[in-house]
Amino acid sequence: MSRFFSRISTCMQTRHRSSAKTLFQPQTMAAVPLQKETKPGLYHAPPEVRGMISLDREAFAREITVPALRVPTRVLNKVVKSLKKATIKRPGVARVVQEGEPCSSDGGDFRLVLLDPLRMSSPSSFTEEEAEALRSLDVPEELQNHEMRLTYDNLKTEEVLEAVLPQGQEITSGFSRIGHIVHMNLRDHQLPFKNLIGQVIMDKNPGVTCVVNKTNIIDSTYRNFKMEVLAGEEDMVTKVKENGVTYEFDFSRVYWNSRLSTEHMRVVDQTKPGDIVLDVFAGVGPFAIPAARAGATVLANDLNPESHRWLKHNVKLNKVEKSVRTFNLDGRAFIQGPVRQELPALLKGKANIHVVMNLPALALEFLDAFRGLLNKELSCDTNLPIVHCYGFSKDDDPQKDVEVRASSSLGFCLEGRSSVQFVRNVAPNKEMMCVRFTVPKEVLFNTDDEQTDPIEEPASKRQKCGETSH
Ligand SMILES: C[S@@+](CC[C@H](N)C(=O)[O-])C[C@H]1O[C@@H](n2cnc3c(N)ncnc32)[C@H](O)[C@@H]1O
Repeated sequence: MSRFFSRISTCMQTRHRSSAKTLFQPQTMAAVPLQKETKPGLYHAPPEVRGMISLDREAFAREITVPALRVPTRVLNKVVKSLKKATIKRPGVARVVQEGEPCSSDGGDFRLVLLDPLRMSSPSSFTEEEAEALRSLDVPEELQNHEMRLTYDNLKTEEVLEAVLPQGQEITSGFSRIGHIVHMNLRDHQLPFKNLIGQVIMDKNPGVTCVVNKTNIIDSTYRNFKMEVLAGEEDMVTKVKENGVTYEFDFSRVYWNSRLSTEHMRVVDQTKPGDIVLDVFAGVGPFAIPAARAGATVLANDLNPESHRWLKHNVKLNKVEKSVRTFNLDGRAFIQGPVRQELPALLKGKANIHVVMNLPALALEFLDAFRGLLNKELSCDTNLPIVHCYGFSKDDDPQKDVEVRASSSLGFCLEGRSSVQFVRNVAPNKEMMCVRFTVPKEVLFNTDDEQTDPIEEPASKRQKCGETSH
């Protein structure tokens, strides 16, 4: 069968018409493949939207021409099925449309199957399989032009923003979704467009009713951001599901990071039913609650009264009240208070004791709270607490760096006694790491002369740590 196609390359140009119309004119010219460089431009918004500050959705509409295949309705379903990969895929665009003008010359009932213009430049773009299917259904491989109105609804977020924001600059820096809230971290050049960006994100993400931008870096004690609402209603109490567990909290007043879900699971997976989990910086419960659901007994603490309030709420929400006790203390006071009280009994038991310390900016420093925590009379070699402590590192060797800092804080060299896990890259050249080790009995139990450890000073101890262990 001959493969003919109309001059799609010229038809790709914008046509300013007010209504969609099929150009029903199958042509019998030699196939003219699309110029590669014209393809990406097809789904561009009109140039006039560049620099738009307040969103005018109508201004994005334009006429475009896409290839179409004329198909008798009796085989329509079969054709659509066979051409799954060749049909147009655009938000809000139907793959099958009525013909623009009734065509009675052949008396049949036909529809147009719209094809993906980025893939289909001529009939020869059909794969052998597709061409064979069309032949078996007696559908000529003749493409025609279909003019359609491309609107704001048919454009993707990047396409809208690319058309509006200054050319050559980064479009968005990505965002995270926390229930109905989208959280962005806009760059300076995006700020004049912040409300438009917020509105577009809301339009294009069903279920999102509030878009916020971080207005300062995360530096407050409680690790939460100051934020500004860009679009939608200011309703910061949200609900999320992570690893099958539901959490509710006020996103503007507590710490939540969806990017930690794998890490939460990684640590929780290390606990067994009956184990003990001591969560020093618990937030709203993403380690504590799944651990309790997995059968652990948990003591969970957070200094932020709002985090503590939502932690208690989530404990109830997930029906683990019997397994979780919550505290609203400074981490050091938690270790030297409730943890110190509970440990003697726990050490005698068989259950593993996990201490989770996720406050990466500071947690390594809090490890000194374990120094001489218990009386030497209680000393035992088994069942000592296993610590999972987080730290940021900008060092070339982040593994070594956090191990050395943990050692300094404990006053005991952990070389050969710890494992360090990379968690995630938080910024260029800044990693979040997790060091896991068993608290040495030399650290945990008080001796008359306090510590016999090889390390006293926190600074530049890497060398010393290495030297003393050999
Ligand atoms: C990085 S967040 C981690 C929260 C939770 N564990 C998670 O993985 O999402 C650190 C938490 O430590 C709390 N925090 C900050 N300083 C603290 C301190 N000195 N003592 C106890 N909690 C503290 C913050 O309120 C915050 O909820």
